[in-house]
Amino acid sequence: MTTHISRRSLLRAGAAVALAGAWPCAAIAGEPLRYHIVAAPGRWSLVGPRYPETDVWAFAGTIPGPLIRAKQGGRLSVLVENRLQEATTVHWHGLRVPNGMDGVPDLTQKPIAPGASFLYEFDVPDAGTYWYHPHYRSFEQVGRGLAGALIVEEAAPPAVDRDLLWVLDDWRLERDASISDDFGNVHDVMRNGRIGNTVTVNGRVAEQVAVRAGERLRLRLVNVANARIFGLDFTGHQPLVLTLDGQPVEPHEPPGGHVVLGPGMRVDLILDCVGGPGERFAVNDMFYRGLEYRLLDLAYGPEAPLRERPSAPPAALARNTMPEPDLAKAVRHDVVFGGGMMGGMMGGMMGGMMGGQRMDMRAMMRHGMAWTINGVAAGGHDLAPLLTLERGRTHVLAMANDTVWHHPIHLHGHSFRVIARNSQPTRYREWRDTVLVAPRERVDIAFVADNPGNWMFHCHILEHQESGMTAVFRVA
Ligand code: C2O
Ligand code: CU
Repeated sequence: MTTHISRRSLLRAGAAVALAGAWPCAAIAGEPLRYHIVAAPGRWSLVGPRYPETDVWAFAGTIPGPLIRAKQGGRLSVLVENRLQEATTVHWHGLRVPNGMDGVPDLTQKPIAPGASFLYEFDVPDAGTYWYHPHYRSFEQVGRGLAGALIVEEAAPPAVDRDLLWVLDDWRLERDASISDDFGNVHDVMRNGRIGNTVTVNGRVAEQVAVRAGERLRLRLVNVANARIFGLDFTGHQPLVLTLDGQPVEPHEPPGGHVVLGPGMRVDLILDCVGGPGERFAVNDMFYRGLEYRLLDLAYGPEAPLRERPSAPPAALARNTMPEPDLAKAVRHDVVFGGGMMGGMMGGMMGGMMGGQRMDMRAMMRHGMAWTINGVAAGGHDLAPLLTLERGRTHVLAMANDTVWHHPIHLHGHSFRVIARNSQPTRYREWRDTVLVAPRERVDIAFVADNPGNWMFHCHILEHQESGMTAVFRVA
């Protein structure tokens, strides 16, 4: 299911992403940037004119939803109007907002009923690439298309020729391009989630992206898929990682040569277009062995190179505003992930606690549960805190993945440093809000719990989140 998209229609699609249906009023100094976004059923051409349009659920009628832009240190105001047939909320993934603005149903706000609206308004402390999505039945609401990117501009952006955004999504489509309605089926839930059969870039199956020889791009990648992990190989190019989950990092080549993004994760790259006029280079997704595919081509136009010699290596961006963890005084918490299928068996046959009751795996599954955090399979959002974190202190979460599956683990309200993997200090001590934990891997993260309230901590494979791999941490 691929189709040719000319450079012009790509550009038009890009413009539509930026403008359609969102109404940022003229920025008045000191006033918040205002958006009004309607969530509603709609139709969208995902796979091109040779297929029917797809019934989707969309923000402002576009896939992905409108790009929201803000300035670091500014204020953002988004009125969300729900015209779906069911309740919803919007979560600002990665933004360190006050708890009441975090968009978690029953925990931080009442769900927005059909026909109702909710005004989200908050200051934006940190620059970077973020995104927004419902936190209500997200395995279906995000899976049907409700997701959009949010860019917070730094005061001093890096010198690049163009700033590009690729919102990566994954869909399970039927032959008529309709969305398969098997959301939350046991097979997906027990394994690696709802992996689809159609990958889109900015809401379309893309054949190519036009570039010019010699130009330097800032390429912002956002993975809004329910479950698919991407591992992008930019053949013929050496992209440098500039930010991870919006947070500046010492610019470096992606470890292993592939740019890896689990669900929820973002990477900004500096990509120097080192090819020549008229050349094409594939961008391949290599993540799942045996299931590699070509995402799209970088297609060089005929123009003469923009510059003869490559630009100097990029400098690191100014860091954001998170307080520095004090490891000498940190409180350590052990966090263990369990469950899922294991070599044809149901993993962690010990099962877990559900609603205060001990259950074996079979009984858990009858309740739609398959995963645990510290032995507890939790559903929904209105949960008793699994951990209470003393406010203002540094906390280290020593996480152990006791399963044979990857889990992109996301913490709300905070960004954290990834300080160790399998007991080895990490090279870049990168800040993140979502960290991919490999099968059997141990990952230590550290952060100052400076944002009071009840915060979700969950796997961002939305089928895992829904079936037990979720918890609440209280910062008090
Ligand atoms: Cu992107 Cu709790 O979510
Ligand atoms: Cu998971």
